[in-house]
Amino acid sequence: MLDQTTKPETHYYAPDGTVINSRLPLLVYRGAVSATDGEDMEAAMKRTFASNNWTNNWTYRGVYPYPHYHSTCHECLGVIRGKMPLRLGGAAQDPMLFEVGDVIVIPAGVSHTAFPDKDHRALGGTDDVLMVGGYYDGRDWDLLRDGEVSDTELRAAVKLIMSLPIPHEDPVYGKKMQAWLSAPTSLEWGIAHCKVTGIEDLHK
Ligand SMILES: [Fe+2]
Repeated sequence: MLDQTTKPETHYYAPDGTVINSRLPLLVYRGAVSATDGEDMEAAMKRTFASNNWTNNWTYRGVYPYPHYHSTCHECLGVIRGKMPLRLGGAAQDPMLFEVGDVIVIPAGVSHTAFPDKDHRALGGTDDVLMVGGYYDGRDWDLLRDGEVSDTELRAAVKLIMSLPIPHEDPVYGKKMQAWLSAPTSLEWGIAHCKVTGIEDLHK
């Protein structure tokens, strides 16, 4: 059953020169979704996401094993089978392990990657892992790799990410996303990004 009192973990990842990351914290809802009678975890996760307008859902054996991020959408991921280690926020960050029922909300711009098979297992990952994804309002997702975009593409991505609206409801409980509504402004975050990357003017 959903625990309506559960608050998500919040993880802030600042821009580090190759990864844009986000002014918004990445959210982790541990053990937030479970199957009800006659329902499997895939159906439960998709029902939960879709009921809160996080759609364009997919089911896949984990996450791509290279660091990437999205500039056109925020993304939610739910573990429906096995255990999944991920590196979130860029190469400097420690791995985090996720289990069945966990939901991760990844703001646009925040790097995420799975690990190659050997590391995946060493970090507690299982071979049977299965995940469900979703995007608020059913937005389409793009795919940008850390450190592999041109300066022009990077500037365009930063501007797009800064302009994305905050969803009206979180994917698990359908509540206001308070941690995002009270996050630093795009301007504050843009200035921080410019300082780290050496970009002097985002409008050029
Ligand atoms: Fe993704």
